[in-house]
Amino acid sequence: MSSAIKRAPTGVAELDRALEGGVPQGSWIVVTGEPGVGKSILCMHFAHAGLKAGDPVVYVTTEQEFKDVMEQARQLGMDMSEFTVHSIASRRQPEEPPHIVVIDIFGLLKVARQLSERARAEAQGADRERARKYATLSIETLIEAINEAYDILAVVSERGRAPERHVRLVIDSMSAFWADKPAMARKYSYQLKIATHRDNVTALLTSQYAPTTKMTFGFGLEHIADGVVHMWMDDVETAKEVRRWLIVKKMRMTNHAVRAFRVNIVPGRGLVLETP
Ligand SMILES: Nc1ncnc2c1ncn2[C@@H]1O[C@H](COP(=O)(O)OP(=O)(O)O)[C@@H](O)[C@H]1O
Ligand SMILES: [Mg+2]
Repeated sequence: MSSAIKRAPTGVAELDRALEGGVPQGSWIVVTGEPGVGKSILCMHFAHAGLKAGDPVVYVTTEQEFKDVMEQARQLGMDMSEFTVHSIASRRQPEEPPHIVVIDIFGLLKVARQLSERARAEAQGADRERARKYATLSIETLIEAINEAYDILAVVSERGRAPERHVRLVIDSMSAFWADKPAMARKYSYQLKIATHRDNVTALLTSQYAPTTKMTFGFGLEHIADGVVHMWMDDVETAKEVRRWLIVKKMRMTNHAVRAFRVNIVPGRGLVLETP
């Protein structure tokens, strides 16, 4: 049966081989791991592989500006300069659907302001002052921004309906949305998935967790995932070097590899996995 499943290659050759060609289209994949293990680089591969295949990309980046994402991707052999980019922070509407819609902190800030203004306009008289104010890094703001991105890509004829083209959604990282309330991770993850999951959208979401906060940070997001890729590094004090690893912990509908790969980050190539 697995041959009937459409797959979205991640762009990392060894990983795609380990996944029977890629992640199942329409699935939600969570990438977990501490800082520096290569999560953001995996996101770049996933976006670049999509663009090469003709998939539009919605790229949420909370930790760095998209121009820096593009620059780092270029250093690692993924040139995205030929693709058109539209930031939702921009005032103008794109004339044609772009290849990439970027949702960065400035875009989220703009959407949060719009939501707050709308809530104020809808409130009556004295209630105006008490109208809801939306935070930049709130799950409602993120959901609205992603739906705006779907509209911009003109891949959804009506909100709530499946887009006609295959779209890739990257969220790097989700942890930013519950940084001050880790206990809400599970609830927010559900809310997000219910509001933005579409059959034709394949999503890659990163979650940062330090070993000490594993439970609260990791498990909220892992709960909604169709696939979990975990990345980590050996204790640097013991190893006296940065030794990175990647393992596929879960992948629905996939007879995936079950052993960990060593991860090398190679200029001009990006993530290069090897079996130890
Ligand atoms: N151009 C490059 N060449 C080689 N290694 C790089 C390059 N850029 C980044 N790296 C490596 O990638 C690491 C960052 O990976 P990243 O995906 O940002 O981690 P994470 O998102 O998990 O925090 C850096 O610490 C560095 O070791
Ligand atoms: Mg990162």
